[in-house]
Amino acid sequence: MAIHSKKMMNIFDKEIDNRSELRKMNDYIPAQEFLDTLLQISDDNEELDRNLIKHLFFDFFTAGTDTTTSTLEWAMAELLHNPKALQEVRRELQQIIGEGNVVEESNVTRLPYLQDCIVQFLSYSLEKLK
Ligand code: HEM
Repeated sequence: MAIHSKKMMNIFDKEIDNRSELRKMNDYIPAQEFLDTLLQISDDNEELDRNLIKHLFFDFFTAGTDTTTSTLEWAMAELLHNPKALQEVRRELQQIIGEGNVVEESNVTRLPYLQDCIVQFLSYSLEKLK
């Protein structure tokens, strides 16, 4: 774990260095995302230093990785129990993405049925927890 943590911190260091260099350029257009926003805040607030930014990213990656993958795995398993929905997801993927093509994050907005399935799965799981 310590080795992986160090590797992750090194990756964050490089990303912060790269972005900080880019931000110094006159024609830089802020990316409107998390790292840019944190760097912007840290310009005016010394409490939010590089170390804190790196640890925030560490938290998000560790908290957001297993939770997301296992949730999706469970959702896919539930889909296998629902042949009608599975067929519709397949039809949508065939139509929008096409056989053999990789689904990119940017494609997700064009997959409303798949999105609905995930949302339904999350609310169904939440109901079961109550
Ligand atoms: C389907 C995916 C996810 C599930 C099921 C999930 C579930 C949870 C749960 C149950 C908690 C504890 C809440 C509590 O203590 O009351 C939590 C906390 C947290 N999650 Fe997630 N999470 C998911 C995705 C993510 C992602 C993608 C991120 C980051 C990008 C993330 C970041 C965090 C953080 C930072 C906390 C701590 C919040 C705090 O201390 O106030 N999670 N999550």
